[in-house]
Amino acid sequence: MNTQSQKTPGIIHVINGPNLNMLGKREPDIYGSLTLDQINGELKARADALGLCLDFFQSNHEGAILDYIHAAFEQGPAGVIINPGALTHTSVALRDALSMLSCPIVEVHLSNIHKRETFRHTSMIAGIATGQLTGFGHYGYSMALDFLHALAC
Ligand code: DQA
Repeated sequence: MNTQSQKTPGIIHVINGPNLNMLGKREPDIYGSLTLDQINGELKARADALGLCLDFFQSNHEGAILDYIHAAFEQGPAGVIINPGALTHTSVALRDALSMLSCPIVEVHLSNIHKRETFRHTSMIAGIATGQLTGFGHYGYSMALDFLHALAC
């Protein structure tokens, strides 16, 4: 008899903030040449292989991201991977919304924000995130996914 309980995986929310819909065309020397669809496609393939369920969301509007996080909160998310874009440096409201969640939260940045302009060195999110991956390009998203998988999210 198999006495091990099988945990049904919950949803891992992959959230991208302002201007990240422009990846591929936007400053490729800083952010790389992959589009967000390509990055998400890569992540979905990896999640399928790991048996994880992802939900993708991108918005250029702070309020829309907050509404999405509130809806995720009601479902009890398994984990969050978020690249908040410029909201990283400005948004107390985004920090407050993420603070409601009890699941692991991984903050991802394509570029290394600590190597760039000083206004990018401050993250409103880092203090409430489980951890931050910054400067690993699109690999940061799959590194975040591997971490959540290791936690059995
Ligand atoms: C970014 C870094 C932010 O400073 C910037 O505003 C972005 C993208 C990154 O992925 O490197 O929009 O989050």
